Amino acid sequence: AGLKPRISVIGTGYLGATHAAAMAELGFDVIGVDTDPAKVDALSAGRVPFHEPGLPELILEHVGSGRLRFTADLADAVATSDVHFICVGTPQRRGSHAANLSYVESATKAVAEAMSHDGLIVGKSTVPVGTAARLRGIITESKPTGIDAPLVWNPEFLREAHAVEDTLRPDRLVFGGTDAKSEAVLREIYAAPIATGTPVISCDLATAELVKVSANAFLATKISFINAISELCEVAGADVSVLADALGHDDRIGRKFLNAGLGFGGGCLPKDIRALMYRANELGATRVVGLMQEVDEINMLQRQRVIDQAIDACGGSVLNRKIAVLGAAFKPDTDDVRDSPALNVAAALHLRGARVLVVDPEASNTAARSFPTLSFADSLDEAVTDADVVLLLTEWPVFVNADPVHLAELATNPIVLDSRNALDSEVWSSAGWEVRPLGGKVVQRQARAYQGVALPA
Ligand code: UDX
Repeated sequence: AGLKPRISVIGTGYLGATHAAAMAELGFDVIGVDTDPAKVDALSAGRVPFHEPGLPELILEHVGSGRLRFTADLADAVATSDVHFICVGTPQRRGSHAANLSYVESATKAVAEAMSHDGLIVGKSTVPVGTAARLRGIITESKPTGIDAPLVWNPEFLREAHAVEDTLRPDRLVFGGTDAKSEAVLREIYAAPIATGTPVISCDLATAELVKVSANAFLATKISFINAISELCEVAGADVSVLADALGHDDRIGRKFLNAGLGFGGGCLPKDIRALMYRANELGATRVVGLMQEVDEINMLQRQRVIDQAIDACGGSVLNRKIAVLGAAFKPDTDDVRDSPALNVAAALHLRGARVLVVDPEASNTAARSFPTLSFADSLDEAVTDADVVLLLTEWPVFVNADPVHLAELATNPIVLDSRNALDSEVWSSAGWEVRPLGGKVVQRQARAYQGVALPA
């Protein structure tokens, strides 16, 4: 007692790399473990293999200070630390809605086998309810006799592009399956956020697992709800953005996650609601299965709505039409293209024979790796030049704040599909664009006389 626990973090993807850096920032000695030696080398040199604002600086600082190191040697990491965070991925299984738990299981087993002194194992990965209880069995079978190795669950709620702030200043901390001793260890580790008011919810393992899954299911439901309403807005001649603002003033509802548009993608929301459906179905809780099915379907249909809008904007066929696609990442400020709605739409239009040119400030490389047949522009100007229609699919600030007067001069046909409801349609229409939002009112281009008016900064 009195000595600070030393920390190991197993898995150094978005979750693990951020958690390791944040723990070092909180003053602990941290060792990050990954099976991929290339990742270990990059992180050891302070290079982060993905785009996450603020993370490279934090890693560089603490690799420099000696508080943070990375290794591929799990046994060494476990031998030299006391608290082991499991941060490996739980991707969707191929051809199934179920989560692939093989990484979580093998990482937990490997930690248990490597333990040479007592330690606490803390699961952070997003898992189907019931997994942690099963992992406790695996630990009991795998750890050396006489070693104390309790498992607790401490789900992570970080968002990509805000990973560092979300980890250092979480909205809440959930501690699942703790006893007095492990509760005290977790409270020591998170002493800083707790001191500044972050609430702690201590509960059983199953509740902790389900809090994370339900949070993502609720966020997904909120997005699909507003998207379903946006379809109604479109046919009724209403404006979904104004509607969302009005709803948001009710603080029981809140304005966040009510942006209608192309819908959700990324490495978490889509796979997490599918894993929830699968697990709930296994357990016979079928209400939530039907609900999430609808949420997933509405979300996927948004992509089709934008494809149809693009075909319509091109006069019935996109064959040989030049389409500028603004955005490849699943959301701004990341280079993550996992289940990216933007790329999905771009690929579908490409398949229909359009000349699609994609531009993204950060995600072109990752996107080109997943979709080698798509073409990528180096600049917004290049993408928009000679375009028959422009699609705003990821609301990067550089796109939203671009000069529409200049872009209107480059495009063949100044029609923009505002698939994220992110553009100022007044400004764009007075610059000569016809703005077609997803679920809002089409704003016709204004007379040429209005072109060149001073734009708000
Ligand atoms: C999400 C959760 O927010 C986070 O708590 C969890 O830990 C992991 O999953 P993330 O995937 O990083 O985080 O992205 P998020 O910012 O939640 O956005 C998810 C998707 O929803 C994006 O594709 C975004 O474009 C879309 N979205 C978000 C909307 O379509 N409308 C909105 O109003 C908000």
